[in-house]
Amino acid sequence: MAIKSVIKSTGAYLPEKILSNQDLEKMVDTSDEWITQRSGIKTRHIAADDQTTADLATLAGRDALERSGLSAGELDGVIVATTTPDQTFPSVAVKVQAALGIPAGLAFDVQAVCSGFVYALAMADNFIVRGQARRLLVIGAEKMSSIVDWKDRTTCVLFADGAAGVVLEAQESADESVTARGIHSTHLYADGNLRDLLYTDGGPSSTGTSGHIKMQGREVFKYAVSHMATVVNEALEENGISADDVDWLVPHQANIRILEATAKKLEMPIEKVVVTVDHHGNTSAASIPLALHEAVCDGRIKQGDLLLLEAMGGGLTWGSALIRF
Ligand code: UT7
Repeated sequence: MAIKSVIKSTGAYLPEKILSNQDLEKMVDTSDEWITQRSGIKTRHIAADDQTTADLATLAGRDALERSGLSAGELDGVIVATTTPDQTFPSVAVKVQAALGIPAGLAFDVQAVCSGFVYALAMADNFIVRGQARRLLVIGAEKMSSIVDWKDRTTCVLFADGAAGVVLEAQESADESVTARGIHSTHLYADGNLRDLLYTDGGPSSTGTSGHIKMQGREVFKYAVSHMATVVNEALEENGISADDVDWLVPHQANIRILEATAKKLEMPIEKVVVTVDHHGNTSAASIPLALHEAVCDGRIKQGDLLLLEAMGGGLTWGSALIRF
């Protein structure tokens, strides 16, 4: 009997305020046409000034917990992927733990920028498979609007806020094939030599401020397409399956052109790719669980579907997770 980490439920929270491309036209020298053509983004959610990442994460975590049918006391911990914590410390995860009334267990944040959710999921899976936890809440939460330079048109039109997550639960299964429910593989990578392609120009030990996002978009785009396709192929090979066996690709939502190029490279119809970038923008670590939750709620993703999650972001970091939902 092998232990698998099964997704018991998903949950999400998106801030009320919606910022359109037309709104952005009034803020910087840009156009709806440019943003739509270059990124596929039309609208995005922006948190209120007094709403922190922990607030967003708590609402998403509560939603996932309620949908799981479990009580807070049945969780063994919280892992939050974020690059925009409320404070340098303590972590967002301990705030979520306290707010949801989770009485015990581990709580920490993961910093892998846009790959954060895949990294956090991989860690949670390792804890569960090793028997160190039975049920974990894994959240991706970001207030990217707090580190965007709202005068920089090359980045402010792309990034956005939101939070979403999953409750993972240990389930024993005699079936060790890819037909069994749960996480079947995770692959994580980083190349720190490429850290200057996407970064913030500040931090606690350098400037004493959080800094603003700087990105060499064209370069990042190139790496995104090649790394995402490579890591997806690796997941397919390791599990002895082909792209045809995957029901849904649930990628990090940075740019519709990256999603289309990745789908093309994998010879996968775009209809099998969950696309939310048009109305979520780039929510960094929150983007994959937000896309997953949306597709679960609207009935596209059903129990038993084979999902391939993939991401690439600052670091550069990238990774994938193959999951039977
Ligand atoms: O989530 C982490 C990973 N991030 C990504 O994967 C993002 C990857 N990169 C991208 O998605 C794209 O590179 C962008 C959407 C950021 C940019 O698209 P692009 O086709 O690579 O445009 P570009 O950066 O090459 O810029 C083209 C032109 C430039 O003008 P010149 O130099 O050709 O005269 C920019 O100054 O577009 C100009 N530009 C804008 N124009 C209107 C840049 N931003 C804007 C803007 N509105 N907001």
